[in-house]
Amino acid sequence: MTLQLKPLHPLFAAEASGIDLTQAPTPEQRKAINAAMNQYAVLVWRNQPLSQAQQAAFALAFGPLDIGLKRIFKRPERMDDERLIDISNLNADGRIADRGTTKALSGFANQLWHSDSSFQDPRAAYSMLHAVAIPDAGGNTEFADLRAAYDALPQRTRDEIQDLSAEHFALHTRLLLGDEAYTEDQKKTMPPVSWPLVHTHPGSGRKVLFVGVHATHIDGWPIAEGRMFLADLLEHATQREFVYAHRWQVGDLVMWDNRCTLHRGRRYDLTQRRDMRRATVMDVPEALLDAV
Ligand code: OGA
Ligand code: MN
Repeated sequence: MTLQLKPLHPLFAAEASGIDLTQAPTPEQRKAINAAMNQYAVLVWRNQPLSQAQQAAFALAFGPLDIGLKRIFKRPERMDDERLIDISNLNADGRIADRGTTKALSGFANQLWHSDSSFQDPRAAYSMLHAVAIPDAGGNTEFADLRAAYDALPQRTRDEIQDLSAEHFALHTRLLLGDEAYTEDQKKTMPPVSWPLVHTHPGSGRKVLFVGVHATHIDGWPIAEGRMFLADLLEHATQREFVYAHRWQVGDLVMWDNRCTLHRGRRYDLTQRRDMRRATVMDVPEALLDAV
C-alpha cells in the first residue's frame, strides 16, 4: 500500500493511511510522509497501536530525538523507553497523579498554545503523539497553522515583525501557572533562546508567524510592550478558522511539524486516565533530509 491522504480541515491537517507504522519506513515511504507533512503539517494515523520501541524507531527514521524538559525535571519516569516523553496524567507507578503535583502541572502547561521545545536550540521539528488510554470526554488536542496565520496578517504588521525576534524560556509556562520552585541550576540547564518572529518553513517555502506561550518577550523591547504584542499575535494565530481540533481514539498517532504549527491540549476529567506518549524529532540539519 502507498500513502493515502484525506484532508481534515480547509487549511491543513490530513488523515493518513496505507503505511504500517510498526515498521521503520522505507526511504520512499519516508519521502512521501515528509512531502505530506510539508503540505498538511498535521497527519492523523488511526488504529496504529505501537509499542514504545516501535514508536521510537519510527520517529528515529526522521532524525535524532529530543527529550525536552526531561533535562530539567529528572522525575522518576514511567516510560520504559527513555527516548519517549510521557504526556500522561500518570505517576511513575502508573497511578493517576494528584492534581497539585508538578506532574499534573505539566499537563496544564500542555494546555497553553505552544510549539514543542521552542525554548531550546535546536528546537523541535516533528512531534508524534500516540494515544494509549483516553478519557471519555474532553482531552482533545488542537492545532493551529502558523503559515495561515502569517498569510492573514495585514501588511503593516508583517513589516513590523519582519526583523523582530522573541526570547523563549523553558520555565515560562511553569511560572505562569504558579510553580516557582526551581533552583538556579535548573534554570541554567535551559537558558532562554531567541527565534525570529518570522521564518520560512523549509518544506513548504511559506512564511510562518512563530509565536507561542514559551515566548516571554520581544528582544530589545520593554517586557510589557513585547509581551502584549506577543499576546495579540498569538490571539491572531489561534483564531478558530486556523484551528483543527483532534478528537482522540486509542491507537491514534498524530504527527505535527512544530516549525509551522502550534498546539494545545484541552481540559478533561483528571480522575480518568489519559495515557499519551510522544517522540519528538529535533530540528537539526541532518533531520528530515529529504523533506525539502
Ligand atoms: C504534547 C502536547 C497536548 C495534549 O504532547 O506535546 O502538548 O493534548 N500534548 O496532550
Ligand atoms: Mn506539546
